[in-house]
Amino acid sequence: MSTHNSEAVAVPRHVAIVMDGNGRWARRRFLPRVVGHEQGMQTLLRVLDDFAARGVEYLTVFAFSSENWKRPEEEVSGIMGLVLTGVSRYLRKLAAEGVRIRVIGDHSALSPKLRAAWDEAERSTVANTRIHLSVAFNYGGRWDIVQACRRALADGLVPEQIDEAALAARMALSFAPDPDLFIRTGGEMRVSNFLLWQTAYAELYFSDCLWPDFGGAEVEAALAAYACRERRFGGVREDESVPQGA
Ligand code: FPP
Repeated sequence: MSTHNSEAVAVPRHVAIVMDGNGRWARRRFLPRVVGHEQGMQTLLRVLDDFAARGVEYLTVFAFSSENWKRPEEEVSGIMGLVLTGVSRYLRKLAAEGVRIRVIGDHSALSPKLRAAWDEAERSTVANTRIHLSVAFNYGGRWDIVQACRRALADGLVPEQIDEAALAARMALSFAPDPDLFIRTGGEMRVSNFLLWQTAYAELYFSDCLWPDFGGAEVEAALAAYACRERRFGGVREDESVPQGA
């Protein structure tokens, strides 16, 4: 599902974020990296509310990539532990605030305990509609395209039936419109195998701010930058289009 028109839309319906810079934030304070991730989780809880208040309907965040298993064991288990404590500490509050949580990614590699925590987060927020928070966990954009192809084949589709709509319906974010705004914090300008398929026409916004320092002012700056963009989805600029009947 995507909004393919060239109207200026002031507020993005769907924002995707690569929450980068937790490690550097911690290092600058001589703290373990996992403390940076813990701060990063607090930041997410804060800005989720800022985005919801501004009318953003979908927020999708990259919490753990398919490649993050290569990090030191202590950091990987630290992030897994954060999910478990995060779910037990904050799920009730998020549920009461109208947040619908979904987890996207390859769950097969996660521990049964972690899967149970994510299942609980999804189940207990299933009726919520204020903002849809999708947490990409053990997710990769290439993995997503591959799993959509596999599902299409498992559904019995023949090559002639495999088109963009058939794959889009089987991608991990098939329930959401494509992201309008892609934000990456931490100063790097890379997509890093996040939502490769879904961000085909997203507006890109890069911030030098480290994720734990991202706050209301940065949310405003990102939304203001987005509001100034002219989206064309492969078409021509509004002022260059040929008038009807000309
Ligand atoms: C990138 O920063 C961040 C991550 C790989 C993990 C993001 C995780 C969280 C914000 C916490 C967990 C959140 C949830 C919802 C479970 P980096 O470590 O690459 O930072 P660096 O580039 O400064 O080293």
